[in-house]
Formats: sequence, structure tokens, C-alpha cells
Amino acid sequence: MQYIAVATICLLAGGACAAPAEIKYLNGDDLPKCPADADQAGECIKNIMNELIPRLRKGDPDLGIQPYDPFVIDRLSFQYSSGAVSGRISVRNVKLYGFAEHKIEKVNVKLDGDKVKLRIVSQLPKMNLLGNYKAEMLVNSLQLKPKGNFNVTLFDVENRVVTDGEFYNKDGRRFLRIKDIDVNPKIRDMIIKANGIFPDPELDELALNVANSYWRDIYGIILPETRESWAPIMLRLINEALTHVPIDQFIHGPE
Ligand SMILES: *[C@@H]1O[C@H](CO)[C@@H](O)[C@H](O)[C@H]1NC(C)=O
Repeated sequence: MQYIAVATICLLAGGACAAPAEIKYLNGDDLPKCPADADQAGECIKNIMNELIPRLRKGDPDLGIQPYDPFVIDRLSFQYSSGAVSGRISVRNVKLYGFAEHKIEKVNVKLDGDKVKLRIVSQLPKMNLLGNYKAEMLVNSLQLKPKGNFNVTLFDVENRVVTDGEFYNKDGRRFLRIKDIDVNPKIRDMIIKANGIFPDPELDELALNVANSYWRDIYGIILPETRESWAPIMLRLINEALTHVPIDQFIHGPE
């Protein structure tokens, strides 16, 4: 069931997986085979993931996996509108450090015919995001055009990922395709650093103090609000990587 491990690496890396021209398949000869029984497979999949996550940190072009520590995002933009605040923010040259330190704590597998639901809980001691940002915002009737660098550090991230997928056959092999994904990270603490929010550095510092005091609220709004931007990208990248992972060879036949 290494396909699930690879899927999870892509999930945790925010979709660091892309397809090369020629399809090559993941070879899991040195990895354990998992029981076909869903109730027993979870522990085995967890061990495989904890083996593969540090191993593939530099990526594997043959498997369509980009390096994910740091994980680089060229550009991403979000539209935002709620109450008195609306606008658009785009980030560029973003580097995320820490993904390869992910420890999978628990994997739960539910099978229903060709459908599979995975629940994965993982822990990450620290994560660091660096990059540039640019925004156009309307706060009440005040127009802001902040632009600058940011450095966000997250501490003790607990990631809960739920995916719905289905098996399908191609070229006489069996594959998994993810149909839906939900990611729900909990964070113990966060430090936000940025410049360029206001032309005046003292106002910048004030704004950052506010942001650092209220990050829980900000984060609670931003994550669901931006889901439409990141979820489809994630799904596409994961599914591209999963085309490299025929699953039959990784599962024990029924006893
Ligand atoms: C980013 O911020 C963290 C925590 O505040 C700090 O330890 C780190 O050195 C900073 N990184 C850079 C590149 O400025």
C-alpha cells in the first residue's frame, strides 16, 4: 500500500507531485507489504510513510515527486471577502521548510467496494514559510496595497488529513485516485514576521503585533476561505503522482 504513502507525502507537501513525460512505477521491493484487510493495514501504511517521507525529501523525478523540503511555491493567489475586509493577496517565491520532519502518528483505512477513505494524523515540530507577498485590500473604505517579505513560523503542527478515493484499473493494473481531500492543521503557536504592510515601519510593527495576537482568528478564517484555491491544485498533483503507483504489488493477497 505504498500508493497511500506516496499520496500522503504529496498531501503533506501541499501537492509537491507532478507528472513527468514517461510513466515509471514506484518500486517498493524494500518496503513491507501490507495486509489487504483495512483494519490491519493502517499500522503498516504508517510505517511505510515514516520510511518514505524522509527518504524522498529531495524528490524523485521518475515518480513525479518534486523536492519537498524545502517545498517551493512559485506563485499562489487568494481572493478574500468577509465583512469589512475584502481584497486579493498573492504570494511568490514561497519556501516551506520542515515537511520531511513529518511523523505519521495514525492511519485509518476504510474500504467500501472500490471506494477508500483514509484518515491520517501527523505531527510536525516546526515549520517555516518564507516568501514575498503583495496584496490589494479594502478595509472599510481604506485602500491598502501592502507588499514585502514574510517569514511565518509554525510550532507543533498537528495535521489531520481526510481523503476520499476510489480504485480503478488501467493497463491490467490497479490504481488509486483521490476524489476529495480535507486538511485540518492545528497549530500550537505561530510567529508572523513581515514588512511592507504600511509605508511607516512603526505602523508595520503595530500591525504585526495585532496579527501575532490574533493569529488564531486570522488563521481560522484564512484556511477555509482559501480552500477553493489550494484543494483542486493539491488533488491534481496527488493524482498525477498516484498514476505512478500500481497498488496490487504492494498488498498481500487475502489469507
Ligand atoms: C524567520 O523567523 C524565525 C522565528 O521568528 C527565525 O528563527 C528565523 O531565523 C527567521 N528566518 C529568516 C530567514 O529570517
